[in-house]
Amino acid sequence: MSSMRVYFSSAVVAASLIFGAGAAFAASAEKGKAAFVSNGCWQCHGFDGQGSAITSNGKVLAPDPMPYETFEAFVRGTNRAMPPYREAILSKVDLEDIYAYLQSIPAGKSFKDIPMLSQHE
Ligand code: HEC
Repeated sequence: MSSMRVYFSSAVVAASLIFGAGAAFAASAEKGKAAFVSNGCWQCHGFDGQGSAITSNGKVLAPDPMPYETFEAFVRGTNRAMPPYREAILSKVDLEDIYAYLQSIPAGKSFKDIPMLSQHE
């Protein structure tokens, strides 16, 4: 019985991989994750945009990213510790996908949502 369920859900996953889960949306978090990796953002900001102690100030990008306009202006125009990514290197579509990926990263759970940490008896 439970193996049927496992079989069914992996079929759904396989189908969404084949047909593109985010195809209905303009920007795709799925593609954005790939672009985040292939453009090396993760090397300084961590795979989940969590920032990195190793790159000392590869800032936290997610959860809850800055407004898209600010984000785009920074990525295109920065000339400090982060190299600028001009449109010739990183297309607008890829940048929008990256932003969708950052938006899709869930915030960590509050301790209040973890029942065991709310039991004081
Ligand atoms: C070589 C390391 C490096 C890479 C690669 C890199 N960043 Fe950064 N990024 C930084 C550093 C360091 C800062 C903070 C520097 C500053 O304020 O000038 C930063 C800042 C940012 C900020 C502003 C954050 C804030 O709160 O002010 C954004 C947005 C950002 N990066 C996005 C990206 C994206 C998207 C990519 C990939 C396309 C990327 N970064 C690739 C090092 C990097």
